[in-house]
Amino acid sequence: MKVGIVGAGMVGSSVGFALVLRGVASEIVLVDHNPDLAQAQAEDIAHAVPFAQPTRVRAGGYDALEGAEVIIIAAGVPQKPGEDRMSLLGRNAAVFGDVIAETNRVARDAILLIASNPVDIMTEVALQASGLPAARVFGSGTILDTARFRYLLGQHLNVAAQSVHAYVLGEHGDSEVLAWSSARSGCETLTDFADQVGAPITDAVRQEVDQKVRRAAYRIIEGKGATWYGIGAGLARIVQAIRDDQRAVMTVSARVSEIEGIHDVTLSLPRVVGRAGVAETLIPHLSFAEATALRASAGMLRETAQKLL
Ligand code: 2OP
Repeated sequence: MKVGIVGAGMVGSSVGFALVLRGVASEIVLVDHNPDLAQAQAEDIAHAVPFAQPTRVRAGGYDALEGAEVIIIAAGVPQKPGEDRMSLLGRNAAVFGDVIAETNRVARDAILLIASNPVDIMTEVALQASGLPAARVFGSGTILDTARFRYLLGQHLNVAAQSVHAYVLGEHGDSEVLAWSSARSGCETLTDFADQVGAPITDAVRQEVDQKVRRAAYRIIEGKGATWYGIGAGLARIVQAIRDDQRAVMTVSARVSEIEGIHDVTLSLPRVVGRAGVAETLIPHLSFAEATALRASAGMLRETAQKLL
């Protein structure tokens, strides 16, 4: 599979590196408004190939994306310490018009996978600007928040994060919703599993996990300026699900016409992801408070997108 990456900064280069380590792509093309950066990142990533999986890694202009089956868009600026994702909107939306015009010109059959923040709104921008079917334009959304949630629950329960089935829904941002009531570990409900292993989910545990998930990016940005490894691995995982038509369930950000009172908005829900992109949208069982919070998150995203577009 040929994969294009637009934006060769920390996120774009990390997904390129993760794709090489996982052996997901036969060819990776990095495009950046700074061609020297794209060239340097491509060369550096290529030097990992002999230690990983056969992959052709190169830099190029937009024309080099021709034939790409997936194009990851990681262009734009990241948050500064203390800044929220929404404050990037004006700056990142400004570059998307040109980016999408170019991807439409050279690779109109590709799936567009959006990573730039605020990712839900940027996915909506890409969807409208490209005119492509909604199944083929989606964002990384809360895939990373879900990973953070599972990792922390796995640590608390002393079990593999891969055996924890828990989702973060809504905005990839401050209004996101941790779906505690549908969380499971193995075949047990989260609370039953936690009681059985002697690590109950108390209110204090919930609050701590909620804050650690919701504030993760702020903490990391404070310490190192940006986040890139987690999202790089998450994006590579999505590309793998597409390439192998895995029909894997993952929380990605995509357009919802109407589902359970959530309508006309781009946000994260559990989705079945395969070769054609987003194949199904699922709505987990939620408590009243979680459903209310999800509708509030959806309303905020819809209003923000409507003001912009
Ligand atoms: C993250 O959550 C900043 O959106 C990025 O790591």
